[in-house]
Amino acid sequence: MRKKIIIANWKMNHDFHETSFFLRNFLKIIFEKKINHNKEIIIAPSFPFLHISNQISQGTTLKIAAQNIHQMEKGSYTGEVSASMLKSIGITKVILGHSERRELYFENNDILFEKIKIALKYGLNIIFCVGETAIERDQNQQFNIVKNQLKETVFHCSRDEIRFFYIAYEPVWAIGTGKNATYEQAQTMHEFIRSLFLEKYGERVSDKIPILYGGSINNLNARDLFLQKDIDGGLVGNYSLKIDNFLEIIQS
Ligand code: PGA
Repeated sequence: MRKKIIIANWKMNHDFHETSFFLRNFLKIIFEKKINHNKEIIIAPSFPFLHISNQISQGTTLKIAAQNIHQMEKGSYTGEVSASMLKSIGITKVILGHSERRELYFENNDILFEKIKIALKYGLNIIFCVGETAIERDQNQQFNIVKNQLKETVFHCSRDEIRFFYIAYEPVWAIGTGKNATYEQAQTMHEFIRSLFLEKYGERVSDKIPILYGGSINNLNARDLFLQKDIDGGLVGNYSLKIDNFLEIIQS
């Protein structure tokens, strides 16, 4: 039985005060109200607040993730952050391949594979996002697109390295649009993704790999999505920004 996982992707939201306020109060509520969620919870704040976030969550089960890394080890890359820098402040997880990075910062599969390699070198867990656009779905290309996104990146990795991954299926048309994939659409894709892992790495890996859904998750749709056999939780954007909302998702 795979444990459910909820990941908050805060994107470029929440300053220092908002980040610390959220984390302190969130942990207080979970602890004091003894909310029995039985899920792995990960929050991805902005770079400048990763250190304080890690300190606040120390000694709890809450984990902190970064939203990106640069593909090079170090050097003249003004404005960028390396895997080793994250490692040096105790961060162990990073989101890669988010559609906003692919679209706005031109991160293609080649660049993403470079990022995967450097993340693995530093032992970071990778939350790797895949998903098709609305046009691609209209053309019934969603399965080819997702297969290719995995084939050119994650599937270059060894069986041993796969244990560092969480996969997030995030249809681009569902991200921040309020239009989530139905649980049938999501389950069908998740089952397909799991079958690709089965084909490539065998049953032990495909049974274990966590596959999360992302795209307009809210209090109304979370439960049905999380009930699906191959949906192991969610990557949540908007609905993770307020404590009350995020708690609702966790308890879904
Ligand atoms: P959303 O974002 O929940 O606001 O749609 C999800 C994501 O981008 O990971």
